[in-house]
Amino acid sequence: MEKRSAFLVVNGPNLNLLGEREPSVYGNKTLHDLEKECLDWASQRKVQVDFFQSNSEGVLIDFMQKHRKSARGIVLNAGAYTHYSYAIRDCIASIDVPIVEVHLSKPEAREQFRHISLLSPVVAGKIAGFGFYGYIMALDALMYMTVSSC
Ligand code: DQA
Repeated sequence: MEKRSAFLVVNGPNLNLLGEREPSVYGNKTLHDLEKECLDWASQRKVQVDFFQSNSEGVLIDFMQKHRKSARGIVLNAGAYTHYSYAIRDCIASIDVPIVEVHLSKPEAREQFRHISLLSPVVAGKIAGFGFYGYIMALDALMYMTVSSC
């Protein structure tokens, strides 16, 4: 079996606009800043973290399928797809990689349509409301969960 080495941080629609998108909700820092924080985490632990962002549902699914045998774990912020993508939910249920769902904001405290996550029942766990630090917590959780499988 292929060695599972890299953690993947996957961001969905509109997260490429972090820093300029609704700063009162998502803050002023950019996606590049987020990736740098994750890379600092990775270099301190001597592990690999790779990044991917797409605004398209199918492209996100293709990416996760492609890495299903090689990824050690996936941190996924599926953006608004969280609330209505049966296809992303099925993808998560179909692959044998631990996935932590992350949200910068606290969707349950926002508009009604954000209160439902179709992904929560099929992910390993979920972290919401801690901004960028949520991604670091998710990486720590994946590291802890997979320590014996590498
Ligand atoms: C989000 C919350 C979603 O409701 C929203 O559509 C996003 C970002 C978050 O990180 O808080 O795009 O996933």
